[in-house]
Amino acid sequence: MSQVVKKLIPNIFRLSLIKRIINKIKTILPLVNSNKSRFFFKIIQGEYYVKFQPSLVNEIEYFKKKYKFNYDDWFSYNINVWKKVLNSLEEIKYLEIGSFEGRSAVFVGELDNTIEVTCVDTFQGSNEHPDINFDLVYKNCSDNLDKLNKSHNLFKNTSHNFFLNNNKKFNVIYIDGSHFFSDVKEDFINSMECLEDNGILICDDFYWLLWNKIELNPTLAILECYENFKDNLDILFINNQIVFKKKPS
Ligand SMILES: C[S@@+](CC[C@H](N)C(=O)[O-])C[C@H]1O[C@@H](n2cnc3c(N)ncnc32)[C@H](O)[C@@H]1O
Repeated sequence: MSQVVKKLIPNIFRLSLIKRIINKIKTILPLVNSNKSRFFFKIIQGEYYVKFQPSLVNEIEYFKKKYKFNYDDWFSYNINVWKKVLNSLEEIKYLEIGSFEGRSAVFVGELDNTIEVTCVDTFQGSNEHPDINFDLVYKNCSDNLDKLNKSHNLFKNTSHNFFLNNNKKFNVIYIDGSHFFSDVKEDFINSMECLEDNGILICDDFYWLLWNKIELNPTLAILECYENFKDNLDILFINNQIVFKKKPS
């Protein structure tokens, strides 16, 4: 490779990173009501962090060999961030809304500090899941959870029904179920009810702008909930996901 090309490559990477940061800031900041500067710095920090993390090839191979997955991997690129946030917890009582084949669930289930895993999924998908055999998805999820040597529960139901009947508390909750505005909002509010103080709340698809109108996407639902709960929430990390810590009231 010529010296000129060698010098150009890092600059192109840096330029594409800066471009991505500017796009995210332009999309998100106008929707934020309070603590704009916190969002601003966390967006930049999150982009840099993700960009310069070690490769995940070994982890991805490990999970592929041990567990059964037939469909796309929407989770593994979060592994470095999740390790950073979850490894320091003394113990993890994990609730997950939206498990699909169980990728995020088995990742958490394999952490040494995890003591129990609770998964909720309709196994019916949503508009963004065409051509998927959800009987197979359910079987894979259930079989994958059974391979964990940790206590686990799998609820084949809507998150709405799960929360109606739930009286347990958790210290890590992952919201990755329905991506419609009103469902994300309901999952967020219900999660705050059963999240322990100092617990972690992770919302997927903070930058998910699939529906034409921004008001229909998870982004605005998450920001509206943040506005309501901001006195109780610290923002730990922002990338395509947003990670909060619940402050004691
Ligand atoms: C993006 S996938 C979850 C991906 C998963 N976390 C992983 O690591 O691969 C979203 C899942 O949410 C489920 N879902 C959609 N609406 C739901 C609802 N109202 N309640 C519970 N689960 C729901 C879908 O069936 C789908 O399996």
